[in-house]
Amino acid sequence: MNWSPASWRNKPVVQVPVYPDAEAQSRVETKLKSFPPLVFAGEARNLKKSLAEVAEGRAFLLQGGDCAESFAEFHPDNIRDTFRVILQMAIILTFAGAMPVVKVGRIAGQFAKPRSSDMEAVDGVELPSYRGDIINASPFDLASRTPEPERMMQAYAQAASTLNLLRAFAQGGYADLHNVHRWNLGFIAGSSSVERYRALADRISETLEFMEACGITPASTPQLRTTDFYTSHEALLLGYEQAMTRIDSTTGDWYDTSAHLLWIGDRTRQPDGAHVEFMRGINNPLAVKCGPSLSNDDLIRLCDVLNPQNEAGRLTLIARFGADKVEEHLPRLIRTIKREGRKVVWSCDPMHGNTVKAGSGYKTRPFDRVLKEVQNFFVVHRAEGSHAGGVHLELTGQNVTECTGGAMAITDADLSSRYHTHCDPRLNANQSLELAFLVAEGIRAERFKTPRPVAAQ
Ligand code: PEP
Ligand code: CO
Repeated sequence: MNWSPASWRNKPVVQVPVYPDAEAQSRVETKLKSFPPLVFAGEARNLKKSLAEVAEGRAFLLQGGDCAESFAEFHPDNIRDTFRVILQMAIILTFAGAMPVVKVGRIAGQFAKPRSSDMEAVDGVELPSYRGDIINASPFDLASRTPEPERMMQAYAQAASTLNLLRAFAQGGYADLHNVHRWNLGFIAGSSSVERYRALADRISETLEFMEACGITPASTPQLRTTDFYTSHEALLLGYEQAMTRIDSTTGDWYDTSAHLLWIGDRTRQPDGAHVEFMRGINNPLAVKCGPSLSNDDLIRLCDVLNPQNEAGRLTLIARFGADKVEEHLPRLIRTIKREGRKVVWSCDPMHGNTVKAGSGYKTRPFDRVLKEVQNFFVVHRAEGSHAGGVHLELTGQNVTECTGGAMAITDADLSSRYHTHCDPRLNANQSLELAFLVAEGIRAERFKTPRPVAAQ
């Protein structure tokens, strides 16, 4: 198929920096090629199998994490908090929605950011835009903003130790279902979603006691003790991704070993462009962000190029239109996919189409717009008879104030108190749980004709 890990270099490329020191860049990329893979091909294949279940309507995808990981915020507590809130959301969806949940973090490699403008101007001074810690640094001075290849090394190292901790959390006892109550500790008591979670955890504990009495124990059933947790990021910095791409010795196929799942952003999904060229040749599960400008024809071209065998689980389409535009764009895309008989996972990113600048000057996302986009996503899928397969979120397990609204009623004026994101505003732990309950209701409405309310207290 005339593809190589380097064939993207002959295609038009956007959003990839030009390094002033090209020699240093190729030295770093060559060194990275000799480093151990971060994930294994067999794991990526397992994820693809699980996503095939989602594509067939039998499971749900939960993908979330930081907009951008940063070198400064690298701390085990941050990794734990993100892992924990995703675990809690997954429990809500599995128990209340009665559906297996595939858990994928935007983590252990989510360092490169596409930008709407190459340059940023402040008080008449123009400098290159900040593009994420794997490329340059955010302080507004020339040295910080100059792309620095050595940053790829630091990103690799941070991804490796993040992944190491995630594997320990997933397999080493932290994710044991018997800890379902403990995951809630440290949350602000009294908020309605935390109380709702507590009520659900009580029911799970009771169920576990019942199962134990029946002889179903963590010793006999490892699924009670461990969980599968996968990693993902936007495959933006193609030099880095190329360096991490290796032939799997079992199958002889190419895999990008920087993460289990890679996605193409809304700004880099040109069917003839470099990012699509790179992604078509790797065998990982892939995703594509679908914004309002995606035409029906381009969607099918993307399916042809990225999933020519029409393999279920290979391709996830992440719709990110904005709450008011879902009904305008999602039905046409769903109908196109149906008409052409394509197998895809439909996921909803309710974050990127709902970003606004608050009066205070902070970039924020009104939580009611986020909820509305998810609701509309479920409504459209029910009307079209297709499976609302997943959500893709920017979230943190911490008590930040970045998105306005939610049960704790964060206002514009509150944003400055704990606004920590390095890029886009994230849901905090409370907002994430609240959203999970809403999604669980959506799943139940799709599955059961007369849904009963989720975890009524
Ligand atoms: C993102 O996911 O952080 C992002 C930039 O999204 P999109 O490509 O959908 O704009
Ligand atoms: Co973002």
